[in-house]
Amino acid sequence: MHLVIFVLLLISCAYDIKVSIDQIKGQYNISIDNQIWFRSSRTALYVNDRWYLSNDSTLPLIDTRFVQGNDPNLGNWNETQLIYILNRNGIISNITGRIRQWNSQSALTFHLDTGDKILMNNKLLDKNQIRTIFPSFNIEQIDGNDNRGYFTFQGVMMDFDSQHAGIWNSPSQIIRNSLEGGPVVLFDLNKKGQGNVVIISPFSQFMATSLNQQDNILQYGVMGSMITIPVNYTIGGGVSQWKSRPDGLPTLYRQMETLLIDNINQLSLPIGNDLFRIDLLSEAAHDCGLIMYEQDWLHVQSSKFIPLLTDIDLDRQWLMSTSEGADKVNITIQYCSSFPRYALQTLEISRVTQARVSVDYTRHIVHREDQWTIGISSLLSDALDIAPFKDVFWSTTNEPGSAYKPSPMEPLPEREIVIAILSTGPVSPGDVINYTDSKRITKCCQQDGLILKPDRPITMIDLLISDWSQNNGNKQGELYSTQPTI
Ligand SMILES: *[C@@H]1O[C@H](CO)[C@@H](O)[C@H](O)[C@H]1NC(C)=O
Ligand SMILES: *[C@@H]1O[C@H](CO)[C@@H](O)[C@H](O)[C@H]1NC(C)=O
Ligand SMILES: *[C@@H]1O[C@H](CO)[C@@H](O)[C@H](O)[C@H]1NC(C)=O
Ligand SMILES: *[C@@H]1O[C@H](CO)[C@@H](O)[C@H](O)[C@H]1NC(C)=O
Ligand SMILES: *[C@@H]1O[C@H](CO)[C@@H](O)[C@H](O)[C@H]1NC(C)=O
Ligand SMILES: *[C@@H]1O[C@H](CO)[C@@H](O)[C@H](O)[C@H]1NC(C)=O
Ligand SMILES: *[C@@H]1O[C@H](CO)[C@@H](O)[C@H](O)[C@H]1NC(C)=O
Repeated sequence: MHLVIFVLLLISCAYDIKVSIDQIKGQYNISIDNQIWFRSSRTALYVNDRWYLSNDSTLPLIDTRFVQGNDPNLGNWNETQLIYILNRNGIISNITGRIRQWNSQSALTFHLDTGDKILMNNKLLDKNQIRTIFPSFNIEQIDGNDNRGYFTFQGVMMDFDSQHAGIWNSPSQIIRNSLEGGPVVLFDLNKKGQGNVVIISPFSQFMATSLNQQDNILQYGVMGSMITIPVNYTIGGGVSQWKSRPDGLPTLYRQMETLLIDNINQLSLPIGNDLFRIDLLSEAAHDCGLIMYEQDWLHVQSSKFIPLLTDIDLDRQWLMSTSEGADKVNITIQYCSSFPRYALQTLEISRVTQARVSVDYTRHIVHREDQWTIGISSLLSDALDIAPFKDVFWSTTNEPGSAYKPSPMEPLPEREIVIAILSTGPVSPGDVINYTDSKRITKCCQQDGLILKPDRPITMIDLLISDWSQNNGNKQGELYSTQPTI
């Protein structure tokens, strides 16, 4: 039924997350252990180049309904539906916000049905805005006892680049870039992050939806740059409006029916096609023994390639098509330079088994930045069952003749090796020829080469996450934990 946008709320302990809904005003409060954690803001829609808002009578709430059901995986649920009427000069449709409570999960989900009419714009919003708003929550300190912190996964390399933490109150700038944004995690600082924890995350349509902060309101919906929200949109729609534009391309590409071209940015993308699946992956797998394919530069693809920013189905569709290709030739995929939304999208793409979770190693050896600090980004990877990859490392401190300038140096090769092993991802020496310290590297494995990994990736401990947030987002050190079975 229609476009369904989910936001998942999850808590770590006790089944005591409750929502109370004002059936007249459509406001909703979410409480945990009888303390209010979230109060809603308004519902809104940008269509026909203008805003319709629930709080100024352009998107009035006309009805509420209560329904119940069962999900084969998640169990029983009940749902309050808030029905708004969208009247565009006589073209009438219902916009339904649904708040679902789960019987056996300490979670709430929010869904938005955008109704049985196409919702188009000519003047598009920015990719960092959203064009439907539901749900939305105030970022606020509820009362004097309320002392909550947050951290959020944000940025390239799963979130490594822009992950940040702080206090949950109205002046906090929590979402600094919508496209790069990801799950937001809230916790009680009085309990040093050990008590209740809430994770707010998109739950489906990861590539087409976004989150955004306007003043002190955290809001979720369809990305602002999407032209059309189709009628009765369901996962996996077609992209028949895209035609190949063969001018000026190499012969191989010219044969394809489905090459997308962005003339403004001079970029193109093969999509839903056999070039990727058969020619590239099959040949490489058969002829060159390819076992894993790395898809790099995902951040540029999502932020610069106009078709992916304006067509609601396309980004997911092309990711799914690479996955089908990998399925066909039985190879796995590693994502690189991905935003958190890609991490979430891999829930539908089992061929993605690993992803880069730190910036390039050069930043460490040339600029002396900590690049091994993967304790937060690995939390996200691990939650999604993707092995975190730290990037390469030098096994020797000084490696003359390297391409990096001016004076690259690895102060602690052992630390690099230990983190790579404990990451559970690839362990990949990237030394200058003749500078590999094989004695050091082989400490990671048995004599037959089997790398001795822990049961789960090494990640930051809760207490330090709490300190990070309490101290205005300045990390108070790195303290990690993991668990091996011997
Ligand atoms: C939400 O909480 C506020 C108090 O902070 C209260 O005034 C309001 O009635 C509550 N709304 C609902 C729907 O429970
Ligand atoms: C509707 O709500 C938004 C967000 O709280 C606010 O900025 C705006 O002023 C409100 N509009 C009206 C007409 O109350
Ligand atoms: C819209 O919602 C109203 C109120 O619940 C209902 O009477 C009407 O049938 C709905 N219209 C459509 C097209 O679903
Ligand atoms: C809806 O489900 C929640 C969670 O199971 C439960 O606490 C609540 O009582 C239910 N509401 C109604 C009206 O049945
Ligand atoms: C959309 O869904 C409604 C209700 O299920 C159905 O009556 C209608 O035919 C659908 N429209 C399209 C274009 O699929
Ligand atoms: C696919 O690859 C995996 C890992 O290399 C291998 O274990 C498996 O047997 C392969 N399956 C097929 C059908 O070739
Ligand atoms: C590596 O060492 C070998 C043996 O000393 C030498 O022949 C070769 O030229 C060296 N390669 C490079 C790139 O320095």
